[in-house]
Amino acid sequence: MNATDQNAVFDVEAIRREFPILGETVYGKPLVFLDNAASAQKPRAVIDAMVKTMETGYANVHRGLHYMANVATEGFEQARETVREFLNAESSDEIVFTRNATEAYNLVADCFGRMPGPHGIGEGDEIILSIMEHHSNIVPWHFLRERKGAVIKWVPVDEDGNFLFEEFEKLFSPRTKMVAITQMSNALGTITPMQDIIRVAHAHGVPVLVDGAQSAVHMNVDVRALDADFFVFTGHKVYGPTGIGVLYGKSEWLERLPPFLGGGEMINEVTTDSVTYNVPPHRFEAGTPAIIEAIGLGAALRFMMDLGRDRIVAHEAMLRDYAHERLREMNSLRIIGQAKEKGAIVSFEMKGAHAHDVATVIDRHGVAVRAGTHCAMPLLTRYNVTSTCRASFALYNTCDEVDKLVDALRKAETLFA
Ligand SMILES: Cc1ncc(COP(=O)(O)O)c(C=O)c1O
Repeated sequence: MNATDQNAVFDVEAIRREFPILGETVYGKPLVFLDNAASAQKPRAVIDAMVKTMETGYANVHRGLHYMANVATEGFEQARETVREFLNAESSDEIVFTRNATEAYNLVADCFGRMPGPHGIGEGDEIILSIMEHHSNIVPWHFLRERKGAVIKWVPVDEDGNFLFEEFEKLFSPRTKMVAITQMSNALGTITPMQDIIRVAHAHGVPVLVDGAQSAVHMNVDVRALDADFFVFTGHKVYGPTGIGVLYGKSEWLERLPPFLGGGEMINEVTTDSVTYNVPPHRFEAGTPAIIEAIGLGAALRFMMDLGRDRIVAHEAMLRDYAHERLREMNSLRIIGQAKEKGAIVSFEMKGAHAHDVATVIDRHGVAVRAGTHCAMPLLTRYNVTSTCRASFALYNTCDEVDKLVDALRKAETLFA
């Protein structure tokens, strides 16, 4: 059976066979890969698309006076169109390829910090973030705080990790210039009410940047239905390669933003004493882009769309519920983050044990989880913890793997708890 046949049952075993690495063993045990929020594994379709590009269709893009340049340019621009379809953006001109999600936040923050006019961010202007943000959607705004005197305001979460909407609404003032908030927390799994966040921000005339690094993987995202001004995600978490990320920006915003990095591709004309800039998205893509990686990303998104994003969401919801049920059986664990709306990410700590030690012990049983701050230090401070273990699920994980996680944790429990 074809693993991407949407009419078929979600045949997770057939899907797993599409991911060569899942056949690997570690320390003689089958690999149980539950570190997907950090980076996901790659299906054959992505590997093949990238190898095929290098073997049969590679040259530099957009300078095409020869056959291969045209083949590569077509592949690269087709990938942009696939991203447009994946996000349901209006135009592929709204899709900017970046190095990763991190570069995209830096681009938006830096450009807003230099943009003339009422939307530019300067001294005393305010940016609203949530306490759940990943450092990549915090530090670029800290740069504006340090360099321009901007002010960051934080939306809190409650003990369960729910986004406190009423507190969010109170943070607006006439100086609010940007709302930059995650649609799904990488550390807690919390899903934020993004549609309402955007509605309220727009009522104040404020644009919204959505951190979609996790939501693009685990939810069925539609930037037009959301009315997002900016939406960011990263290739390696959506089963694509590293080195490629996406900034979606509404045309009206991208057209207004000044350039970010300077170099080839982003200009119209350069003289010894002047320069004019290209239109979006090329204005923001200085230098040779990640051609092979963009094509790999296109293949990854096609793989997800062929599989059926609603079916992926349903499978992961089942895994989330099963993982919570099984982990709650263990008295030694404290689950951090039990929001009403949450995706298939479970953070926890084990009584009496450091997260790193727990992760190291269960690794010996073939189970890969992440331990640490998850690049969300303000959030961990909120919960008064210095690190947690995090099991994060992907479309190829199974209930049997949840059981293996629990078995391995039971072994760790005998050592520490
Ligand atoms: C919620 C969230 N935002 C942003 C990022 C940054 O992604 P990248 O490191 O690919 O730029 C991550 C990665 O962990 C993330 O989980």
